[in-house]
Amino acid sequence: MTIPQGIPCPVERANFPLLACNPGLVYFDNAATTQKPACVLDAERVYYETTNANVHRAAHRLAVAATDAFEGARTTVARFLNAASADEIVFTRGATEAINLVAQSWGRTHLRPGDEILLTELEHHANIVPWQLLAQQTGVVIRAVRVLADGALDLVHFHELLSPRTRLVGCTLASNAIGTMPPVAQIVAAAHAQDAMVLLDAAQAVAHQVVDVQMLGADFCVFSGHKVYGPTGIGALWARGEILASMPPWQGGGEMIDQVSFAGSTFASAPARFEAGTPPIAQAVGLAAALDWLMALDRTAIALHENGLRERLEAGLRSIPGVQIFGSGSAKAPLTALAFARAHPFDVAQFLDARDIAVRVGSHCAQPLLAALGVPALLRVSFAAYNTPDEVDQFLAALPEILELLA
Ligand code: ALA
Repeated sequence: MTIPQGIPCPVERANFPLLACNPGLVYFDNAATTQKPACVLDAERVYYETTNANVHRAAHRLAVAATDAFEGARTTVARFLNAASADEIVFTRGATEAINLVAQSWGRTHLRPGDEILLTELEHHANIVPWQLLAQQTGVVIRAVRVLADGALDLVHFHELLSPRTRLVGCTLASNAIGTMPPVAQIVAAAHAQDAMVLLDAAQAVAHQVVDVQMLGADFCVFSGHKVYGPTGIGALWARGEILASMPPWQGGGEMIDQVSFAGSTFASAPARFEAGTPPIAQAVGLAAALDWLMALDRTAIALHENGLRERLEAGLRSIPGVQIFGSGSAKAPLTALAFARAHPFDVAQFLDARDIAVRVGSHCAQPLLAALGVPALLRVSFAAYNTPDEVDQFLAALPEILELLA
């Protein structure tokens, strides 16, 4: 068997304090959340030590500095996504809140009973349940494009379901559970040909590939900071400016208003209209540090490295009896989902944890996908830039021993 060698690791493990403090830890749960480089921790600490104040209420210099840091972070996110303007970036708690925002603001305003939302069986719950809540409120109908047995999207079924009734297509750039990367350009073009909007869930993609919203040509795009080396509690919605302008507020409070009286209120323009209350300021600063750090690296080298790790793992797994790899499509994010002929994934994960190898196991917030694949639980190995071929080899050495113990 030839084990792919990959290319050298493009980032230093020593730059990640948690990994540096745990030299034996093999952290393969990056699709759930990535570890954070020191510059992200430093950015938040320095912000609190030097700049902390509330934003957009500037009567003193500290508040001006905090506002500048927060709005600077918005500009960084816009640069990261190649948005046409920072005003197209709305800070949210993460991808989940961003999708809920689109459903409750755009969906409730623009959709009518009988309109259809087309999702895919690849979506995680964050891109399913907000639309189901909207369906209960408005009478819109949700349809789901099937996945094929190999985990690829069934494009014939997509074209069958896409119709003049379709008002929005919601699609992931990469499945968090099995890694499939659907042909997004084709999906966007077909949806737009039917005058349907497209929401892209980039939560699992942004750490691994350049996401250029202008090139993708969609209408909405969402991601979470913590999956791209940034803090938890912060993410973003991107939407084309004229679409944001057509959307009403979805949460009320301070900072999203223009004038308030008991007779009624008027609202700020986007993005402030969608950011009620004090926003996650330090988290935005931390996110900007993460994105600046990532943008300064060779993204192509990172992608090659991470995919090299996945190929090395999958090549090794193929020679271990009783291991099934889910999602064999050619376009895959750097993660591998597994089931075992004679062991439950939960048991395998616990034995791996005892050897300091961290993986995720379960339905990966994607129960419809696992039901479609006919499997109750999967063990997922997901890579980040700091993982190494040695770590893959540790996994490949541990797994047959664990399967033997559990047989
Ligand atoms: N959606 C995250 C995952 O895939 C939590 O693990």
